[in-house]
Amino acid sequence: MVSIFELMNSWTVSFFVPPRSWIAWIGMVLLGGIRISAAESENHGTGSLRSGKEIFQACQLCHSTKEMQRGPILDGLPEWYVASQLRKFKMGIRGGLAENRSAALMVPVMSTLKSDDEIQRVAEYIAGLPAKPHLLVIRGDKKLGKMIYTRCIPCHGLGGEGNPAAKAPPINFLEDWYLLDQLRKFQRGWRGYDDRDIEAKLMALGVKPMTTQELRNVVRYIAEDLAEVPPLKPVQPATRTLAQ
Ligand code: HEC
Ligand code: HEC
Repeated sequence: MVSIFELMNSWTVSFFVPPRSWIAWIGMVLLGGIRISAAESENHGTGSLRSGKEIFQACQLCHSTKEMQRGPILDGLPEWYVASQLRKFKMGIRGGLAENRSAALMVPVMSTLKSDDEIQRVAEYIAGLPAKPHLLVIRGDKKLGKMIYTRCIPCHGLGGEGNPAAKAPPINFLEDWYLLDQLRKFQRGWRGYDDRDIEAKLMALGVKPMTTQELRNVVRYIAEDLAEVPPLKPVQPATRTLAQ
């Protein structure tokens, strides 16, 4: 059995010397070495009949574009990734740090999901929603970001489409502020603080040595050039034309 430390070492090195050990790691995942299954044993068969759509209504308080923000737009995230993150929140291995106040919001939410079946249903519903376009708000140099992105390709794919075998989610339709926010959380150790959260620990290792400007650059590249849905155009202030 490969220990977490061996995995971490190989990743730190491989972040700079791609990509052979990444492939080794992906192989590990494929072999089933990494598994999050805590919530699986908690399906008590409560007979809950809520559909994914019904469950998601309460989530929209924080996961829609309407409210004073908020969590990320989830629409279109694959079912396997949504379910895996919900199980992590439930186990307290994501969102369990008091200083990470926004993620801590997700912890009480998990008690409203009655069973693993509900996790599965809401995840399937979210996966079926079309990705939403959004405004770009993070400034960065996308040319420099493109070079940095070569380090992300082995796991997240050439177009940011993700790779379930590597447990790496798609990142090509997430909002840019959320991408940056999460990269910083990986950096600070706010994701991947628990030894059981191997995926987040590995992800964190790669971004730890990066500067904030490098993070901004790579986010700009992902959100502008890899975006699955074209970003929204900012509305020009009407006053400008009036003044001329
Ligand atoms: C009170 C606000 C709030 C409610 C209600 C809420 N969430 Fe969240 N959610 C958040 C925040 C904030 C985050 C970002 C956490 C972070 O920064 O790590 C998040 C993150 C997530 C993520 C991780 C997304 C990713 O890309 O990794 C998933 C999945 C998720 N929520 C699903 C749900 C579901 C399903 C519900 C309803 C059952 C729900 N949330 C209800 C605030 C909320
Ligand atoms: C060794 C594989 C690997 C590499 C290389 C990698 N990632 Fe990841 N990334 C992952 C995994 C696995 C996750 C899911 C972590 C989890 O389950 O909490 C992830 C999650 C993320 C997330 C969070 C998405 C969300 O919905 O919350 C972002 C953003 C991200 N990666 C960006 C990047 C960027 C940018 C790079 C390159 C600088 C990169 N990753 C390199 C494996 C990788």
